[in-house]
Amino acid sequence: MRTSDELRAGFRAFFESKDHGFRPSASLIPRADDRSTLLTTAGMQPLMPYFLGRDAPPAPLLTTVQKCFRTPDIDEVGLDGSHLTFFEMLGNFSFGQYFKEGAIELAWEFVFEHLQLDPERFWVSIFAGDAELGLGEDEVAHRHWVEMGQPAERIVFLPRAENFWSVGGPGPCGPDTEMYYDWGAEHGCGEPDCKPSCTRCERFLEFWNLVFMEFELHVDGKLTPLPKQNVDTGMGVERTAAILQDVMSVYETDVYQAIMRWIAGESGVAYGDSPEATKAHRILADHGRGMTFLAADGVAPSNEGRGYVMRRIIRRAVQQGSRVGLEPPYLAQLADVVIEQMKGGYVELEEHRDDIHRILAAEEERFGKTLERGLRLFEEIAGKGGDIPGEEAFRLHDTYASHSS
Ligand code: GLY
Repeated sequence: MRTSDELRAGFRAFFESKDHGFRPSASLIPRADDRSTLLTTAGMQPLMPYFLGRDAPPAPLLTTVQKCFRTPDIDEVGLDGSHLTFFEMLGNFSFGQYFKEGAIELAWEFVFEHLQLDPERFWVSIFAGDAELGLGEDEVAHRHWVEMGQPAERIVFLPRAENFWSVGGPGPCGPDTEMYYDWGAEHGCGEPDCKPSCTRCERFLEFWNLVFMEFELHVDGKLTPLPKQNVDTGMGVERTAAILQDVMSVYETDVYQAIMRWIAGESGVAYGDSPEATKAHRILADHGRGMTFLAADGVAPSNEGRGYVMRRIIRRAVQQGSRVGLEPPYLAQLADVVIEQMKGGYVELEEHRDDIHRILAAEEERFGKTLERGLRLFEEIAGKGGDIPGEEAFRLHDTYASHSS
């Protein structure tokens, strides 16, 4: 198992062989009654009514590949090899069936027999307990990892901020255990306390979490037990592909490199040619994937909510495109690269190809005109006497640049 396609297919086949029913990805637009986030951010999110016991799940065990979009990091994308907005999450879910022991056993088998990770590079973290939540450290998870054969020196206990999971506010939640890949001491900060969750370096990469979802978090911060003890897991396709392909940056994995080859072919500027080119390629590749999937789910650019997210990523991408010399219009072609690559797992991409082209091309044209107007205005003001007064400079930036930085 090496490519992203093999990883997705292998994960599905493994969990189907363990009696999990497969469900295709839900939309990036959450259900109408789900106010937790603007866009779907995790594999468990479309399944929340089942965890809460409000609806019966279609099967007691499920496995999914969920498209996800996280907005807080939009401005970080491009600056390093790890930040993304759009990504895919693989998951296996138990609704009142197996719990800690079963989830850890399945993870162990998949990690060592299918991903074939080097045991020396495998670390796990466990919930250390939290006085405010009234929960002690997760000794049960610890015992199961040790029983599977995980050496105690590669198990760490981490606090609530790291190892207690909810979708972001009230809802189903629970302590989790997380799996990390160690890139090696040569990538570490060298400090004696360097371990999974180290913020000084990128030596340890978290790639899969198993959430033991047995509580509901309420608005007042109190926990109550859910009707059943459930399991929700989330494995990042991009991060796991990076491990399988032995590259520290997700942008060096196969999915992104295919898009970057297209960018290089069109612009003559390759990923890695310069720091500016690397940044532009990353932003075009991440945002190109995001805008294609958002458009397929019916999100059109606007000035609020999901539409504003769409407008920002399109404008950031177009701005970066000009840095590597891409001549507009090209977003529809960029979307086609994404569609060809991903349509096997996401039928909506082919079904909505025309809508995707229309939505992206319209915004690309609109932004082009906005930029032209901005440039004309700039030249007019500058032509009047050289200096641009502070107020005018602010207005120009606010109107023409702030969406695109
Ligand atoms: N399984 C929880 C998450 O990471 O999304």
